[in-house]
This record gives sequence, structure tokens and C-alpha cells, in this order.
Amino acid sequence: MHGDSGLSLYLKNRQNRFWQNYGYHHGQVKLRNLPEVFAIESTNYCNLRCVMCPRGEPDIMERPLGNMSDDLFRKILGDIEFYKEPCWFHWFGEPLMHPRLFDQIALAKSQGIPDLGISTNATLLDADRAQAILDSGLDTILIAVDGATKDVYERIRISSTFTFERVCENVRQFLDLKKRLGRTRPATTLSIIVMEETKSQLDDFKRYWLAAGADEIIFKPYTTWGNQDTQFIQLAVSEIQETHRTQVRTNPCYHLWESVVIAWDGRVVPCCFDFDATVTLGDLKTHSLREVWNSQAYQDLRQKERDGENDSPLCRNCNQAPSIERNPVWPLPKQVARVAAALSIIENERN
Ligand SMILES: C[S@@+](CC[C@H](N)C(=O)[O-])C[C@H]1O[C@@H](n2cnc3c(N)ncnc32)[C@H](O)[C@@H]1O
Ligand code: SF4
Repeated sequence: MHGDSGLSLYLKNRQNRFWQNYGYHHGQVKLRNLPEVFAIESTNYCNLRCVMCPRGEPDIMERPLGNMSDDLFRKILGDIEFYKEPCWFHWFGEPLMHPRLFDQIALAKSQGIPDLGISTNATLLDADRAQAILDSGLDTILIAVDGATKDVYERIRISSTFTFERVCENVRQFLDLKKRLGRTRPATTLSIIVMEETKSQLDDFKRYWLAAGADEIIFKPYTTWGNQDTQFIQLAVSEIQETHRTQVRTNPCYHLWESVVIAWDGRVVPCCFDFDATVTLGDLKTHSLREVWNSQAYQDLRQKERDGENDSPLCRNCNQAPSIERNPVWPLPKQVARVAAALSIIENERN
């Protein structure tokens, strides 16, 4: 795919999405489409202890810490055919802690990744790194600040080293440099997660960072990481905590037919909620993504999910999965199935 022209890339993507939908709606477990890559984890080292994050406070992540190596990253880039846009080059951990981040971003861009992004906590976004980001070819940067005031920010993004003032100064410096150099890339989004602590600060946050030069502000929906651990529910906006507790998943999770997340050590998991890689479906150190996508483990998981029997600790309490009602006659409209069903009833009555 990497050498494809714009038109052929577009057509391949359309075809892949067609088979993605076809497989989902028809309940197939062995798929003709290939996965879109949602995220590749550059590192899971982190320098903050955010209260809403499994890598935070308390740190409940048990898998080993490490950085994506050059060799593995090169192999993964050679393996991938379809990317979510943006394809994120972070998962858990702070990407700016990776010592070779900018070289790896440049490598990914030289291999034709269409839209590569990172989310950063901006604690390490000093003048040198600001320049390096602007020169790296990165397409999208999400700067996660989570608070319009010092007290709220520092209650959420816990650190004994980095203050609200310092993080804001880093972000302003980055936005100023980008403007001074007349760069439009990376598209820069400031994000604040919508939680009980932040809900009254959203408008102030937006006003401040738009004026400072951000391209876009997002109010990021809060996730409870699939309710694997109930500790996360109490941080949600109070009005929707009960929904988080009681809502149940009614349709199969579309992720299993669509996309993957790749951990820093090459393990493939079905969803970004799987912070400890408890549902590892394959390993890109030893297998290709194509092999992993239709491995027995993936097919078994899809079958259980389709049949309402997926009781893995990752999925059994999850009510934040993309919910699409299956249509067994897709791509025909659902009404066709209803008419067909009605006709067969008439047929039965006649017989
Ligand atoms: C896990 S962080 C890793 C990247 C980087 N350390 C950062 O903080 O941006 C990736 C993204 O997840 C977001 N995040 C963390 N906890 C979250 C939660 N409970 N709900 C929604 N987003 C969350 C962060 O704001 C960030 O944009
Ligand atoms: S949200 Fe980001 S900065 Fe905060 S603990 Fe998680 S990985 Fe680290």
C-alpha cells in the first residue's frame, strides 16, 4: 500500500471497509478485510500519575515497561496496510519520553503513513522538542491538559515535578513557535476530558486555548476502561455514573471486525481499553498482522462476541463499545430482511 497513488489508496480503503461491514453484519469470524491500525504504543513509561488513567494513580498496569524498538517498528510498518486516521503513536505512557520518537515518526512518514498523531501531556514539551515535533513530519498532536485552573489540573494530573504553570508555558511556547514559523502541521488540538472535576471548566478551557492559537479544542468523553475496575466510575460526571454502572452492551463490539492496537512489545490487542494486554491475540515479533487478524484466537473471540458469550474480563462488563445493530442482509436495507421474513411467514401459512 505504501507506494500507492491517492486514487488507488482511496479505492483500497473503500473496498476494505466494504468487507469490514460485510463481515460484521453477516456475523463472519474469518474476515476478508484487514484491520485498521488504531494505535501503536511508542512507550508505556510515564512521568505523571493521572487519576483517570490505569497507568496513573493508582498505577494498576502490570505488564512490563518498555519502548518500541527501531527494528520492531520497522517490521510493523512493513506489515500494516490500513490505518485509522489519525493512527496514534501512543497508547499508555508519555510518547515524549521515548528517546527515538522523532526518528521513528520520520521513518513512519517516509513509509507513507497518511496521518500520524500523538497525544502528549506536554510536561517535556520544551523548546527543542517543540522544534523537533514541527520538523518531524507529525500530522496531528493532541495536547491533553485536563483543567483550566491549577487546583483542578493538579488534582487530576498528579506530579511532584510538573506544575500547571509549567505545562501551560510549554504549550504556549509550542503554539507560538508554530505560528512564528508559519507551520500548519501538526494540526494541534487541546483536549480536556469531561469528568466531574472538569465539567464546570470546559468553556473557560476552550476560550483560553483557542485564543492562544490551538486549531481545535475537544471535550473528550470520559471512559471507564470497559468497567474492568469499578474505581474509574466515581470520576465520571455525577449525572451519568449510574448509566456507566447499569448500561449493558446490546450489539457485538464493532472493534473486533475493524481495528487493532499494538503494544510497544509487538503484542496485538483488540481495543485500547485492554491496558494490561489481557486479551493478546498475537505477536508481531513473530507473526504478520494478516496472520494475527485471522488467527484461531481472533476467530474464537469474534464467535463468542457474536453469540453473546464473550466473558473475558476485558469485555464482560464493557458498555462503551461501538454499537451497531447487525443487518443480516447488508448491504441491502434492513427492511428487505423484514419483508423476506414476512413473505416466508405467508409461505408457511399457505403450506
Ligand atoms: C493514556 S494517554 C497517553 C498519552 C499521554 N501520556 C497523554 O496523557 O496524553 C492517551 C489519552 O488518553 C486520555 N485519557 C486518559 N484517561 C482517560 C479516561 N479515563 N477517559 C478518556 N480519556 C482518557 C488522555 O487524556 C490522552 O489524551
Ligand atoms: S493519561 Fe497519559 S500522562 Fe497521565 S498517567 Fe496516563 S499515560 Fe501518563
